[in-house]
Amino acid sequence: MSERVIRRAVVPGSYDPVTNGHVDVIARAAVLYDEVVVAILHNPAKEGTFAVAERIGFLEDVVAGLPTGADNVRVEAFAGRLLVDVCRDLEAQVVVKGLRGGTDFAYEVPMALMNRHLTGLETLFLPGDPSLEHVSSSLVKEVVRYGGDVRGLVPDTVLGALLARLPGD
Ligand code: PNS
Repeated sequence: MSERVIRRAVVPGSYDPVTNGHVDVIARAAVLYDEVVVAILHNPAKEGTFAVAERIGFLEDVVAGLPTGADNVRVEAFAGRLLVDVCRDLEAQVVVKGLRGGTDFAYEVPMALMNRHLTGLETLFLPGDPSLEHVSSSLVKEVVRYGGDVRGLVPDTVLGALLARLPGD
């Protein structure tokens, strides 16, 4: 009898910081696959708004609160690596990404095709929740920076950190 292969997906991103749009995609991936690795891919030469350790902390809180439980999802960070190499090391067969609309489609499809060209790595696109279609890490940061309200668009721990960090920075 052949051994059952674990279906492992990577949900990659900068997560600077995680938004509720990301949370939706992570939660749905956790239902679809045996194991999910939420992979923070960052450029060590570029300082983000949040340190990688903070981004990991936010994501670990998110994972702990998933409806499916945290058992099949873990968070890891990778500096200066190609996504295809990360997936090969993790023995993940697929990348899962959310698509918010045409702009995401135009940005994501060439990356998905390049990853498939490089190693055969496949990408599964999930349509983003329409109620979160306008939500991105960069827009959320801009809104908070100028005093706008982003409650409901990011996890509560992230909201607190944004309010403490951004206004007047
Ligand atoms: O949250 P983001 O910024 O949309 O995430 C983009 C990310 C980090 C997933 C993408 O830039 C990526 O895969 N970077 C790793 C480097 C890499 O593999 N680049 C070539 C992609 S074809």
